[in-house]
Amino acid sequence: MYSKASAPGKVILFGEHAVVFGEPAIAAALNLRTAVLAENSASKMLNGIPLHRESNPYPYFALELTGSGPMNLTVNSDIPPGAGLGSSAALTVATVGTLRPEYGPERVATMAFEVELIAQGRASPIDTSTATHGGAVFVDRKEGASLLWTIRKGNVTWHIHHTEVPPLNLVIGFTGKGAATGPLVENVRRLHSKFETAREAVAEIGAVTIEARKRMREGDVVGIGELMDRNQRLLSMLGVSSDEIAKLIDAVRPYSYGAKLTGAGGGGSVISLTDKPEKVAEAIRKKGFIPYKCTIGGEGLRLDNGPG
Ligand code: MEV
Repeated sequence: MYSKASAPGKVILFGEHAVVFGEPAIAAALNLRTAVLAENSASKMLNGIPLHRESNPYPYFALELTGSGPMNLTVNSDIPPGAGLGSSAALTVATVGTLRPEYGPERVATMAFEVELIAQGRASPIDTSTATHGGAVFVDRKEGASLLWTIRKGNVTWHIHHTEVPPLNLVIGFTGKGAATGPLVENVRRLHSKFETAREAVAEIGAVTIEARKRMREGDVVGIGELMDRNQRLLSMLGVSSDEIAKLIDAVRPYSYGAKLTGAGGGGSVISLTDKPEKVAEAIRKKGFIPYKCTIGGEGLRLDNGPG
Protein backbone atom coordinates (compact mmCIF):
# COMPACT_ATOMS: atom_id res chain seq x y z
CA MET A 1 0.00 0.00 0.00
CA TYR A 2 1.04 3.60 -0.26
CA SER A 3 -0.14 6.91 1.13
CA LYS A 4 0.73 10.43 0.19
CA ALA A 5 0.43 13.78 1.94
CA SER A 6 1.67 17.31 1.42
CA ALA A 7 2.03 20.37 3.65
CA PRO A 8 2.97 24.02 3.07
CA GLY A 9 5.95 26.13 4.09
CA LYS A 10 5.32 29.27 6.11
CA VAL A 11 6.42 32.79 6.83
CA ILE A 12 6.40 34.14 10.35
CA LEU A 13 5.01 37.67 10.06
CA PHE A 14 5.59 38.58 13.72
CA GLY A 15 6.94 36.98 16.86
CA GLU A 16 9.59 34.38 15.97
CA HIS A 17 11.91 33.39 18.83
CA ALA A 18 9.71 35.18 21.40
CA VAL A 19 7.02 32.55 20.69
CA VAL A 20 9.35 29.86 22.09
CA PHE A 21 8.87 31.60 25.49
CA GLY A 22 5.08 31.68 25.01
CA GLU A 23 4.78 35.21 23.56
CA PRO A 24 2.19 35.80 20.79
CA ALA A 25 3.13 35.29 17.12
CA ILE A 26 1.50 35.35 13.68
CA ALA A 27 2.44 33.05 10.78
CA ALA A 28 0.96 32.34 7.36
CA ALA A 29 1.20 29.28 5.12
CA LEU A 30 2.90 29.68 1.75
CA ASN A 31 1.96 28.32 -1.66
CA LEU A 32 5.26 26.35 -1.62
CA ARG A 33 4.77 22.74 -0.50
CA THR A 34 6.49 19.49 0.47
CA ALA A 35 4.94 16.17 -0.57
CA VAL A 36 5.78 12.82 1.04
CA LEU A 37 4.93 9.40 -0.36
CA ALA A 38 5.25 6.46 2.09
CA GLU A 39 5.55 2.87 0.88
CA ASN A 40 6.14 -0.34 2.83
CA SER A 41 9.79 -1.34 2.72
CA ALA A 42 12.23 -3.82 4.25
CA SER A 43 14.23 -0.99 5.88
CA LYS A 44 13.91 2.75 6.60
CA MET A 45 14.66 4.66 3.39
CA LEU A 46 14.50 8.27 2.28
CA ASN A 47 14.44 8.94 -1.46
CA GLY A 48 15.91 5.50 -2.08
CA ILE A 49 18.84 5.74 0.39
CA PRO A 50 19.01 4.55 4.02
CA LEU A 51 17.37 6.97 6.46
CA HIS A 52 19.64 7.99 9.35
CA ARG A 53 18.72 9.92 12.45
CA GLU A 54 21.81 12.19 12.25
CA SER A 55 21.35 13.35 8.66
CA ASN A 56 17.52 13.37 8.52
CA PRO A 57 16.18 13.68 12.06
CA TYR A 58 12.72 15.02 11.14
CA PRO A 59 11.49 12.07 9.02
CA TYR A 60 13.43 9.67 11.25
CA PHE A 61 11.65 10.77 14.43
CA ALA A 62 8.33 11.08 12.56
CA LEU A 63 8.62 7.34 11.82
CA GLU A 64 9.56 6.62 15.45
CA LEU A 65 6.84 8.69 17.12
CA THR A 66 4.07 7.43 14.85
CA GLY A 67 5.17 3.87 15.69
CA SER A 68 5.45 3.03 11.99
CA GLY A 69 7.35 0.05 10.66
CA PRO A 70 10.13 0.54 8.11
CA MET A 71 9.03 2.65 5.17
CA ASN A 72 10.47 4.09 2.01
CA LEU A 73 9.71 7.83 2.08
CA THR A 74 9.87 9.76 -1.17
CA VAL A 75 10.03 13.52 -0.64
CA ASN A 76 9.40 16.22 -3.22
CA SER A 77 9.67 19.81 -2.06
CA ASP A 78 9.59 23.27 -3.55
CA ILE A 79 10.52 24.91 -0.22
CA PRO A 80 14.21 25.94 -0.11
CA PRO A 81 15.82 24.23 2.93
CA GLY A 82 17.36 26.38 5.69
CA ALA A 83 15.65 29.49 4.30
CA GLY A 84 13.47 30.11 7.35
CA LEU A 85 10.42 29.13 5.30
CA GLY A 86 9.36 26.09 7.31
CA SER A 87 10.83 23.29 5.18
CA SER A 88 11.40 21.06 8.25
CA ALA A 89 7.89 21.63 9.61
CA ALA A 90 6.31 20.93 6.20
CA LEU A 91 8.36 17.73 5.90
CA THR A 92 7.47 16.66 9.44
CA VAL A 93 3.74 17.39 9.09
CA ALA A 94 3.50 15.74 5.67
CA THR A 95 5.38 12.66 7.00
CA VAL A 96 3.20 12.32 10.12
CA GLY A 97 0.10 12.93 7.95
CA THR A 98 1.02 10.28 5.42
CA LEU A 99 1.97 7.71 8.08
CA ARG A 100 -1.13 8.37 10.20
CA PRO A 101 -3.95 9.39 7.86
CA GLU A 102 -6.45 8.53 10.62
CA TYR A 103 -5.16 11.33 12.90
CA GLY A 104 -7.07 14.61 12.97
CA PRO A 105 -5.22 17.93 12.50
CA GLU A 106 -4.76 18.56 16.25
CA ARG A 107 -3.06 15.19 16.74
CA VAL A 108 -0.85 15.67 13.66
CA ALA A 109 0.18 19.18 14.81
CA THR A 110 0.91 17.99 18.36
CA MET A 111 2.97 15.01 17.21
CA ALA A 112 4.82 17.04 14.58
CA PHE A 113 5.75 19.53 17.32
CA GLU A 114 7.13 16.66 19.45
CA VAL A 115 9.20 15.53 16.45
CA GLU A 116 10.60 19.07 16.02
CA LEU A 117 11.41 19.25 19.73
CA ILE A 118 13.44 16.03 19.62
CA ALA A 119 15.14 16.96 16.34
CA GLN A 120 15.86 20.57 17.32
CA GLY A 121 16.21 20.61 21.11
CA ARG A 122 13.84 23.55 21.67
CA ALA A 123 10.91 24.79 19.59
CA SER A 124 7.46 26.34 19.66
CA PRO A 125 4.52 24.73 17.84
CA ILE A 126 4.03 27.67 15.44
CA ASP A 127 5.72 26.16 12.36
CA THR A 128 4.10 22.74 12.64
CA SER A 129 0.66 24.17 13.47
CA THR A 130 0.82 26.51 10.45
CA ALA A 131 1.91 23.65 8.17
CA THR A 132 -1.03 21.56 9.47
CA HIS A 133 -3.78 24.18 9.48
CA GLY A 134 -2.70 26.34 6.52
CA GLY A 135 -4.14 29.85 6.03
CA ALA A 136 -2.74 31.87 8.90
CA VAL A 137 -2.39 31.22 12.61
CA PHE A 138 -2.19 33.43 15.65
CA VAL A 139 -0.49 32.00 18.74
CA ASP A 140 -1.56 33.59 22.00
CA ARG A 141 -1.13 33.14 25.74
CA LYS A 142 -4.91 33.37 26.10
CA GLU A 143 -7.66 31.24 24.63
CA GLY A 144 -9.80 33.28 22.24
CA ALA A 145 -12.35 32.98 19.46
CA SER A 146 -11.24 30.74 16.54
CA LEU A 147 -9.13 28.51 18.82
CA LEU A 148 -7.81 25.52 16.87
CA TRP A 149 -5.89 23.67 19.58
CA THR A 150 -3.73 24.14 22.64
CA ILE A 151 -0.23 22.72 23.05
CA ARG A 152 1.68 22.64 26.35
CA LYS A 153 5.30 21.89 27.12
CA GLY A 154 6.89 22.37 30.54
CA ASN A 155 5.55 25.64 31.89
CA VAL A 156 4.67 27.11 28.46
CA THR A 157 1.18 26.97 26.94
CA TRP A 158 0.46 27.94 23.34
CA HIS A 159 -3.13 28.54 22.25
CA ILE A 160 -3.17 28.21 18.46
CA HIS A 161 -5.91 30.18 16.66
CA HIS A 162 -7.04 30.48 13.09
CA THR A 163 -6.65 34.09 12.01
CA GLU A 164 -7.40 36.17 8.95
CA VAL A 165 -4.60 38.18 7.39
CA PRO A 166 -5.50 40.98 4.93
CA PRO A 167 -4.13 40.62 1.39
CA LEU A 168 -0.49 41.65 1.84
CA ASN A 169 2.03 42.14 -0.94
CA LEU A 170 5.04 40.30 0.42
CA VAL A 171 8.34 39.61 -1.28
CA ILE A 172 10.79 37.13 0.23
CA GLY A 173 14.53 37.66 -0.18
CA PHE A 174 16.62 34.56 0.50
CA THR A 175 20.20 35.25 1.60
CA GLY A 176 21.26 31.90 0.14
CA LYS A 177 22.78 31.10 3.52
CA GLY A 178 21.01 28.35 5.42
CA ALA A 179 21.15 28.40 9.22
CA ALA A 180 20.13 25.62 11.61
CA THR A 181 17.25 26.65 13.88
CA GLY A 182 18.34 24.68 16.98
CA PRO A 183 21.56 26.60 17.80
CA LEU A 184 19.88 29.99 17.14
CA VAL A 185 17.01 29.15 19.50
CA GLU A 186 19.49 27.89 22.10
CA ASN A 187 21.50 31.11 21.90
CA VAL A 188 18.38 33.21 22.52
CA ARG A 189 17.55 30.98 25.52
CA ARG A 190 21.03 31.65 26.93
CA LEU A 191 20.66 35.44 26.49
CA HIS A 192 17.15 35.33 27.96
CA SER A 193 18.32 33.50 31.07
CA LYS A 194 21.25 35.91 31.63
CA PHE A 195 20.14 39.39 30.63
CA GLU A 196 17.19 41.57 31.60
CA THR A 197 17.50 43.43 28.25
CA ALA A 198 16.95 40.16 26.36
CA ARG A 199 13.90 39.36 28.52
CA GLU A 200 12.56 42.85 27.80
CA ALA A 201 13.15 42.41 24.04
CA VAL A 202 11.25 39.09 24.07
CA ALA A 203 8.30 40.66 25.93
CA GLU A 204 8.30 43.65 23.58
CA ILE A 205 8.14 41.36 20.53
CA GLY A 206 4.97 39.92 22.09
CA ALA A 207 3.52 43.45 22.48
CA VAL A 208 4.47 44.34 18.88
CA THR A 209 2.66 41.19 17.66
CA ILE A 210 -0.55 42.07 19.53
CA GLU A 211 -0.41 45.59 18.04
CA ALA A 212 0.25 44.13 14.56
CA ARG A 213 -2.85 41.94 14.84
CA LYS A 214 -4.94 45.08 15.47
CA ARG A 215 -3.37 46.84 12.49
CA MET A 216 -4.07 43.79 10.33
CA ARG A 217 -7.74 43.89 11.27
CA GLU A 218 -7.81 47.58 10.28
CA GLY A 219 -5.87 46.86 7.05
CA ASP A 220 -3.33 49.52 8.09
CA VAL A 221 -0.39 48.61 5.84
CA VAL A 222 1.75 51.56 6.97
CA GLY A 223 1.27 50.59 10.62
CA ILE A 224 2.04 46.91 9.90
CA GLY A 225 5.25 47.95 8.10
CA GLU A 226 6.42 50.12 11.02
CA LEU A 227 5.82 47.23 13.39
CA MET A 228 7.82 44.88 11.12
CA ASP A 229 10.77 47.30 11.38
CA ARG A 230 10.38 47.40 15.18
CA ASN A 231 10.22 43.60 15.33
CA GLN A 232 13.42 43.44 13.26
CA ARG A 233 15.30 45.80 15.64
CA LEU A 234 14.28 43.60 18.59
CA LEU A 235 15.39 40.43 16.78
CA SER A 236 18.77 42.09 16.09
CA MET A 237 19.10 42.76 19.84
CA LEU A 238 18.59 39.02 20.38
CA GLY A 239 21.55 38.29 18.08
CA VAL A 240 19.62 36.43 15.36
CA SER A 241 20.13 38.91 12.52
CA SER A 242 23.23 38.70 10.29
CA ASP A 243 25.25 40.84 7.86
CA GLU A 244 23.36 39.32 4.91
CA ILE A 245 20.00 40.07 6.51
CA ALA A 246 21.06 43.69 7.22
CA LYS A 247 22.25 44.07 3.61
CA LEU A 248 18.97 42.71 2.23
CA ILE A 249 16.90 44.95 4.48
CA ASP A 250 18.91 48.03 3.42
CA ALA A 251 18.36 47.07 -0.25
CA VAL A 252 14.56 46.70 0.02
CA ARG A 253 13.92 49.55 2.50
CA PRO A 254 13.36 52.33 -0.13
CA TYR A 255 10.44 50.35 -1.63
CA SER A 256 9.02 48.76 1.53
CA TYR A 257 6.51 49.68 4.23
CA GLY A 258 8.63 47.48 6.47
CA ALA A 259 11.00 44.52 6.34
CA LYS A 260 12.25 41.90 8.77
CA LEU A 261 13.88 38.52 8.91
CA THR A 262 11.44 35.63 8.99
CA GLY A 263 11.95 32.35 10.85
CA ALA A 264 15.05 31.59 12.85
CA GLY A 265 17.39 34.15 11.19
CA GLY A 266 21.19 33.85 11.21
CA GLY A 267 20.89 33.93 7.39
CA GLY A 268 17.70 32.52 5.93
CA SER A 269 15.17 34.98 4.53
CA VAL A 270 13.80 38.49 4.83
CA ILE A 271 10.20 39.54 4.09
CA SER A 272 9.36 42.93 2.66
CA LEU A 273 5.86 44.42 2.79
CA THR A 274 5.51 46.53 -0.31
CA ASP A 275 3.29 47.93 -3.03
CA LYS A 276 6.25 47.81 -5.43
CA PRO A 277 7.02 44.06 -5.60
CA GLU A 278 8.91 44.35 -8.90
CA LYS A 279 11.23 47.03 -7.49
CA VAL A 280 11.84 45.00 -4.35
CA ALA A 281 12.59 41.84 -6.37
CA GLU A 282 15.02 43.82 -8.55
CA ALA A 283 16.76 45.34 -5.50
CA ILE A 284 17.17 41.85 -4.02
CA ARG A 285 18.58 40.45 -7.28
CA LYS A 286 20.98 43.40 -7.67
CA LYS A 287 22.55 42.55 -4.30
CA GLY A 288 23.05 38.95 -5.47
CA PHE A 289 20.21 37.44 -3.40
CA ILE A 290 17.17 35.42 -4.53
CA PRO A 291 13.65 36.98 -4.59
CA TYR A 292 10.44 34.95 -4.22
CA LYS A 293 7.11 36.65 -4.78
CA CYS A 294 4.94 34.78 -2.35
CA THR A 295 1.29 34.07 -1.93
CA ILE A 296 0.20 33.51 1.63
CA GLY A 297 -2.80 31.61 2.94
CA GLY A 298 -1.86 28.27 1.32
CA GLU A 299 -3.79 25.07 2.06
CA GLY A 300 -2.67 23.10 5.13
CA LEU A 301 -2.04 19.35 5.36
CA ARG A 302 -3.54 17.54 2.37
CA LEU A 303 -3.91 13.75 2.36
CA ASP A 304 -3.97 11.70 -0.79
CA ASN A 305 -4.34 8.05 0.18
CA GLY A 306 -3.62 5.40 -2.38
CA PRO A 307 -5.10 1.93 -2.75
CA GLY A 308 -4.95 0.03 0.56
C1 MEV B 1 11.47 29.18 13.43
O1 MEV B 1 10.72 29.14 12.22
C2 MEV B 1 10.70 29.90 14.49
C3 MEV B 1 11.39 30.01 15.84
O2 MEV B 1 10.57 30.84 16.66
C4 MEV B 1 11.58 28.65 16.47
C5 MEV B 1 10.26 28.02 16.90
O3 MEV B 1 9.27 28.74 17.12
O4 MEV B 1 10.26 26.80 17.04
C6 MEV B 1 12.75 30.67 15.72
